[in-house]
Amino acid sequence: MTRLAITFTTLALAAAAAAAPVRAQDMEKGKEISAVCAGCHGDNGQGGKKGVYPRLAGQPATYLATQLRAFRARQRINIPMYPYTQDRELPDEDIRDVSAYLASIRLETAMPEFKGDEDALTRLQMVDKVMIVPRVEGDIAHGGEVYADQCAFCHGKTARGGGRFPMLAGQYTNYLQKQINSYLKGERPHDDDESRGVLAELKDTDIRDILAYLTSIQ
Ligand code: HEC
Ligand code: HEC
Repeated sequence: MTRLAITFTTLALAAAAAAAPVRAQDMEKGKEISAVCAGCHGDNGQGGKKGVYPRLAGQPATYLATQLRAFRARQRINIPMYPYTQDRELPDEDIRDVSAYLASIRLETAMPEFKGDEDALTRLQMVDKVMIVPRVEGDIAHGGEVYADQCAFCHGKTARGGGRFPMLAGQYTNYLQKQINSYLKGERPHDDDESRGVLAELKDTDIRDILAYLTSIQ
């Protein structure tokens, strides 16, 4: 191509891009959509009812979007959420926006310092923004070893997840246990063939220790 032709092509591409911009995630729209989710998952995506409603804040956007599509397609069964994920309610574009928004929320990792003049509601709201779940009993050292051996490869060294792998640290323990139970019963697929066996090969005490370890590294 001649230099002029290249310039011309560049200009034409730029014009086309301006006419039909590639749609970036719309965070404002994502925030609006998340108001519907807040009734169960909390105003900051922090989850609720001690883990009946999982934490969504800070989960990788790809992972969130995959789960929303799985709920919509009924590949992952979630009766409470079914009406909210029907096509009319949650088209793909909304799934992208709300996932990007929820992924961007950073919950505090330290307990808030009260000044002393807050009312009870304000205090509750401050504590709600903190990403710390209660410690659970178990052999943390052993849990850490099993985690490093069997889980870190996908869920990350610090259990923050990434891409299609969910964050496990900071997630409610009873919610994680419930998911592990449904993997073991074959109700929810745990990744591909490689990892299917991972959980089945562990003893109940290994799983308890992993969960204890996860609450120790938040
Ligand atoms: C009526 C309550 C309710 C509402 C409203 C609701 N959810 Fe949920 N959601 C749940 C429950 C319960 C679960 C856990 C299901 C389980 O135990 O497997 C869940 C799970 C999820 C998960 C899976 C999390 C994970 O770690 O795998 C995602 C993602 C999610 N919800 C996103 C949303 C979004 C986005 C909205 C708003 C559009 C929403 N939810 C609205 C009840 C609700
Ligand atoms: C080969 C990769 C891989 C390994 C190894 C792996 N996982 Fe996973 N895990 C995944 C993927 C992918 C998902 C999401 C599955 C989906 O899309 O529903 C997941 C999901 C989970 C969830 C559900 C989280 C949520 O928010 O719902 C739990 C709990 C979990 N894994 C625990 C573990 C534990 C404990 C280990 C180690 C014993 C482990 N995983 C090892 C890939 C892996």
